[in-house]
Amino acid sequence: MRYRLLPALVASSALRASAAPSASSDSAETYDYIVVGSGPGGGPLAAELARAGYSTLLIEAGGDEGDNPTYAEIPWFNEAANDELTRWDFWVKHSDDPEQDLKFAHTTWDTGDGTFYVGLDPPEHAKLLGIQYPRAAVLGGCAMHNAGVCSMPADDDWNIIVNKTGDTSWDAKNMRKYLMQIERNEYLPPGAPGHGYDGWLATSIQDSSWARNDSLPDPDEAADLVNRDLLELDDKADETSSFYSMVTHADARGMRASPNNYIRATLADPAGYPLTVKLHTLATRVLFDPATVGVDGVVPRAIGVEVMEGPSLYKADPKHVKGTKGPLKQFHAKREVIVSGGAFNSPQLLKLSGIGPRDELAKFNITLVKHLPGVGENLGDNYEGSILAMGSAPVETGLITLLFRTPNAPNKKRNIYTWCGAFSFEGFWPGFPTYHGPTQYSCAMVHLAPKSQAGSVRLVSADPQDKPEINFRFFEHGGKEDLAELVSAANILREAINAAGEPVAPLVEKHPCPGGKDEKCTDEAQAEFFKLQAYSHHATSTCAIGGDDDEMAVLDSKFRVRGVAGLRVVDASAFPVVPGAFPSCPTMMLSVKAAEDIIAEAKKQE
Ligand SMILES: Cc1cc2nc3c(=O)[nH]c(=O)nc-3n(C[C@H](O)[C@H](O)[C@H](O)COP(=O)(O)OP(=O)(O)OC[C@H]3O[C@@H](n4cnc5c(N)ncnc54)[C@H](O)[C@@H]3O)c2cc1C
Ligand SMILES: *[C@@H]1O[C@H](CO)[C@@H](O)[C@H](O)[C@H]1NC(C)=O
Ligand SMILES: *[C@@H]1O[C@H](CO)[C@@H](O)[C@H](O)[C@H]1NC(C)=O
Ligand SMILES: *[C@@H]1O[C@H](CO)[C@@H](O)[C@H](O)[C@H]1NC(C)=O
Repeated sequence: MRYRLLPALVASSALRASAAPSASSDSAETYDYIVVGSGPGGGPLAAELARAGYSTLLIEAGGDEGDNPTYAEIPWFNEAANDELTRWDFWVKHSDDPEQDLKFAHTTWDTGDGTFYVGLDPPEHAKLLGIQYPRAAVLGGCAMHNAGVCSMPADDDWNIIVNKTGDTSWDAKNMRKYLMQIERNEYLPPGAPGHGYDGWLATSIQDSSWARNDSLPDPDEAADLVNRDLLELDDKADETSSFYSMVTHADARGMRASPNNYIRATLADPAGYPLTVKLHTLATRVLFDPATVGVDGVVPRAIGVEVMEGPSLYKADPKHVKGTKGPLKQFHAKREVIVSGGAFNSPQLLKLSGIGPRDELAKFNITLVKHLPGVGENLGDNYEGSILAMGSAPVETGLITLLFRTPNAPNKKRNIYTWCGAFSFEGFWPGFPTYHGPTQYSCAMVHLAPKSQAGSVRLVSADPQDKPEINFRFFEHGGKEDLAELVSAANILREAINAAGEPVAPLVEKHPCPGGKDEKCTDEAQAEFFKLQAYSHHATSTCAIGGDDDEMAVLDSKFRVRGVAGLRVVDASAFPVVPGAFPSCPTMMLSVKAAEDIIAEAKKQE
């Protein structure tokens, strides 16, 4: 490549001197910033950049369902996540062992007649799809179909970024200010420490009036317990086991709050902020200044994005019609391109653009722009499982939320987030969840701080309409310990469930111990159950922030793609470790932090 060095350098400095980012850009629309993806990562960021006066293009593959009650009203979250209007189906693997994955009770198959088969005994000739992992392609991303649960990472999940990069702005104490910036608290009187009241993200809690019911043994105590603020500012929170009130990103009337609200408010603002949103537009690759690619000693520079225009172009979209393509178009960014496609699509888009592991890109003849072996690796997720039992009568209490530490946890920190109530939650498949009847009762468990992040997102082709191959490799490292923690939690919760009084008792367990815990349902048997049946839906960490000396680091502490100019990744893929129990609020905090960092950098250059 050395022979190209001199002309390339001359060309690139000439380009930098002119206003247009590349010679062929005359006809392309140009913005200061281009953000790909409008979820918790990209949505708030794009709005903030525009509010700071920078012309910003927000590219979103889906449409806008902000007025659709299925999305706007939080109680319909299961319907929303099943809705073909916005659903992107990824079919994932949980391990490298196909035989093991086939034991996942909700493995899904394509029958060939336009229907799915879900289960362990597929009809002949059915084609294996895998384990469904829903994502939402819509303005606001997965925050438009999720359950809206809002919780904070453990302090150490932020602090580890300080340790890795030396950037103290990631200190948990500092990160709290971003919650205060975005929150519009609707459940605490004004002035609660660590909370915000003027932001765009409404937070509220469940109606817990049931706990004040005089028929309960000690109604005041019950109500106080379930009313504890899950987002309370408390240095000792991570070491506290307690009941809490579940907080959701929704207002007190149950209307969903998400980046969708903020984007729409930004567009509608009379101030006329320079935000342009292109819906039904699939980003296919990041464009680079050709004079900076493949040249020794020159840092490749991102200058724009190529897109394919039209709805349902991505093959994860169940409405995609085979062979459909849209016109290609290019947009240019004067300042930067920011990739916020989520933990599956951000690494895919980087790889399609030539940024990723050298060998993987070579396999698909993708021109290498920057060898970064960490792109698409380090995929992590919270392990989830549930204890499900059938009562003798319907259970009428509301949700009970509990964060606790199992006795076998590796440190002093709580390791289980659970909520119990008259519902069932057993993972994801087309048509989830199963209704087991009016007496169903579950404790759903989210395990915190998984010891393994050995999952990956890898290309199957260079076609941007294809889905990547996703394998979580659950329990690859420290699996025995994490499974033992889940089993310990189930044993504790089972005791609590079985302490219920009449008329609900006795309850008959469906899983993990069918019929109840007996000599057959040992801890080993339960561990085997969770090993095969654990599920997840909080994927993160596939473009992780890391230190200068870390070969697998994809981003620096300011979200900059390492070794590339003008390109950042801002979404759940940036977290080096799984952020607590639920990533949605942490990702929105990360998004407005990124906006602050990017705007500060831009102001310095002006
Ligand atoms: C069913 C379900 C329930 C959940 N429940 C909760 C919960 O209760 N609480 C919680 O905290 N978390 C929950 N989560 C997880 C949480 O919603 C996600 O972690 C969060 O939305 C991640 O934000 P993100 O910005 O990284 O990605 P996403 O939310 O996935 O947003 C990415 C956006 O980018 C767009 N995009 C991707 N690729 C392209 C491309 N090439 N071109 C154009 N656009 C593109 C997508 O259409 C999407 O809108 C849930 C997730 C699911 C699936
Ligand atoms: C950060 O490093 C310090 C000093 O090595 C260590 O004590 C601490 O546990 C680390 N914190 C995290 C979150 O990794
Ligand atoms: C209190 O509990 C009783 C018995 O479960 C129930 O019938 C009644 O509706 C409850 N009242 C309220 C206000 O929830
Ligand atoms: C890559 O290019 C080579 C040489 O042109 C070709 O033989 C091969 O089929 C290509 N591979 C892919 C995956 O396109």
